[in-house]
Amino acid sequence: MAKRILVTGGAGFIGSNLVDSLIDKGHSVAVIDDLSTGLREYLNKKTDFFEADIRDRQKVAEIFERNNFDAVFHLAAQIDVRISVKDPALDNDINVLGGLNILENSRKNGVKKLVFISTGGAIYGDTAELPTTERVRELPLSPYGIHKLTFEKYLNYYKEVYGQEYLTLRLANVYGPRQYKGGEAGVVAIFTDHAVEDQEITINGDGLQTRDFVYVGDVVKACLAALEADYAGEINIGTGIETDLLEVVGAIEKALGKEIKKKFGPAKEGEQRRSCLDHGRAKEILGWTPDVFLEEGIKKTIDWAKNK
Ligand SMILES: NC(=O)c1ccc[n+]([C@@H]2O[C@H](COP(=O)([O-])OP(=O)(O)OC[C@H]3O[C@@H](n4cnc5c(N)ncnc54)[C@H](O)[C@@H]3O)[C@@H](O)[C@H]2O)c1
Repeated sequence: MAKRILVTGGAGFIGSNLVDSLIDKGHSVAVIDDLSTGLREYLNKKTDFFEADIRDRQKVAEIFERNNFDAVFHLAAQIDVRISVKDPALDNDINVLGGLNILENSRKNGVKKLVFISTGGAIYGDTAELPTTERVRELPLSPYGIHKLTFEKYLNYYKEVYGQEYLTLRLANVYGPRQYKGGEAGVVAIFTDHAVEDQEITINGDGLQTRDFVYVGDVVKACLAALEADYAGEINIGTGIETDLLEVVGAIEKALGKEIKKKFGPAKEGEQRRSCLDHGRAKEILGWTPDVFLEEGIKKTIDWAKNK
């Protein structure tokens, strides 16, 4: 059934891909975004766009009061781990207090479901259990991870006390078209952008650090399933495959059909060595498994980067 849906962060990488899909499915979609990293050109023309900061109490309250949202996808966030380390209070301000503003207004205005986009890459810390399940104790190693976890706890509290329905998706390392390449963006976005521009890439450390790279189209598929699921709690969204950075470089070279210029730089201090998420719960509850694997996903990303 067509719903009235709010997407916070809907001008960003994942948010704008999600908005396009929701509109394709016939939903009516509104977006709140302050365009701090998102781009107006990514905004679907069929959305009602509200340029606002999620921390703005008055503006956000007015938007909720004037729209009868059935569901909210909350993606707007400070996403740069390094900024969160330099300025934990700023990260708290956006990712906890901004989130609470969205949550409070959702509760007050009868929103039936809030889907929160959290992180699987930054919430578990360095754990020996790989692929990591949702049952592993979360010990985040950055203010960003701590604040994502804090907001998850608020969601659980609002469900227990007020009956506010929610579902949290803990995403692995997402990549694909429209990924922001400034700041500490995803490594795939930086590498593909440099490769397409024929610029040298720098691999930090030995390149054998691993991540779980999940394609943005698969993340959107998980979001659509989350909207319909009768479940409250946390669900990992990742491929379950550990891929090292040298394999990513190899996939880019294969897609481009040429070797790319590369050099090795010093390892980043405190960087997590390995990361990979188990998606057993996603399969069981959402019927979700990934469709697009690295080689195909990189090819799609390169095609987009070449034509943008
Ligand atoms: N990209 C990944 O690998 C990844 C992994 C795990 C979780 N996530 C989460 O997914 C969500 C979307 O991230 P993304 O990768 O699309 O990044 P993004 O930077 O492209 O999207 C974030 C969006 O939020 C907006 N925004 C930021 N602060 C805001 C504020 N105070 N008020 C209103 N809008 C604001 C930005 O302008 C942008 O459009 C975030 O919550 C992020 O933490 C991303």
